[in-house]
Amino acid sequence: MSRQSEPPAVPALDLKAQYQTIRSEIETVVRNVLESQYFILGPEVAGLEAEVARYSEAAHGVGCASGSDALLLPLLALEVGPGDEVVTTPYTFFATAGAIWRTGARPVFVDIDPQTFNIDPSKLEAAITPRTKVVIPVHLYGQTADMDEINAIAAGHGLSVLEDSAQAIGARYKGRRTGALGQVAAFSFYPSKNLGAFGDAGMATTDDTELAQRMARLRVHGMEPKYHHHEVGFNSRLDALQAAVLRVKLRHLDDWTNARREAAERYRSLFEEHDLLDRVTLPGERPECFHVYNQYVIRVPASARDLLRAYLSTQRVGTEIYYPIPLHLQVCFSSLGHEPGDFPIAEAAARETIALPMYPELTEEAQAHVVGSIRRYFDSLGRTSTKSGERAA
Ligand SMILES: Cc1ncc(COP(=O)(O)O)c(C=O)c1O
Repeated sequence: MSRQSEPPAVPALDLKAQYQTIRSEIETVVRNVLESQYFILGPEVAGLEAEVARYSEAAHGVGCASGSDALLLPLLALEVGPGDEVVTTPYTFFATAGAIWRTGARPVFVDIDPQTFNIDPSKLEAAITPRTKVVIPVHLYGQTADMDEINAIAAGHGLSVLEDSAQAIGARYKGRRTGALGQVAAFSFYPSKNLGAFGDAGMATTDDTELAQRMARLRVHGMEPKYHHHEVGFNSRLDALQAAVLRVKLRHLDDWTNARREAAERYRSLFEEHDLLDRVTLPGERPECFHVYNQYVIRVPASARDLLRAYLSTQRVGTEIYYPIPLHLQVCFSSLGHEPGDFPIAEAAARETIALPMYPELTEEAQAHVVGSIRRYFDSLGRTSTKSGERAA
């Protein structure tokens, strides 16, 4: 497996490559904010809220300090609290369940679909109790959850649906963008997201005017008008500098999304060309979903995953594991009483998935190096084991 010359470095994410393409636009808007000395909320944030809401096909946007707060604000505005239950997936970034916990409510997990890694709607009904108030489907890796099924079940029980769209701005479900597919949605503008700020930022979107007003009040300590507090909120104000940067980036988002989708298509062709489809499972794309590939996550046998990752690192290929420990097994949730085996599909995903480099500027040459390296790794093992650990015929 040794190579003569050093292979090209392919990081898991390359933010510098994107910055080079928009540097002068960014410098202009940052200078404008500096000249204005208007740093918190204000016209830049209002402008971003209107633009993200329009982009997401929602009536209102409420900018806040992070995607985590974009989950917490709607839960608080929906008056979720101690004694309530909120149903979600155990296979997501911690913030989804962390926001539920922060309100004092109990996160109730439902296992995932093995193809999409999203919450399995066929298991949702069984998790609903008289205490359930909200369902949070997560559009994981950039592909929407099965919203029609989820909305129908939620409506049948009078529950609110909060989309965790942190990874899925621009994604579509049956033609409609995420953002108003449920009652309210949460977006993250963490730098690694498809629309990433130069720091932390987030936004909740909704068609519900009252809910939007309440979230806007909660993010400023429940204050309205100035120094009048009718309820206790917290500080989750969005910075004007972040909003200005995000407004520039939003103009490029569709081009970047298309580039991500083209890169995903190239990965598929390369895996086929390298005859690797018996070794790896590629992302399962649903025809009704427009996937925006925040992450390109493949599945390999659990026995190979960490060794493959270590080998790719020697080949200067960056990878990540999203997520190595499902949330029901996190120490901080031990009081929920879960055990290994409770959500077997999520647990298998945690052992078998690996995220490959994915960003709009990813080149064909870089992808050829990634997939070629995966081919060499499996060649080094011989052809004795196949996908899902079975012996080859
Ligand atoms: C699915 C999901 N939910 C919530 C969040 C929280 O967003 P943030 O990191 O902006 O607080 C993230 C991203 O980190 C995420 O991926």
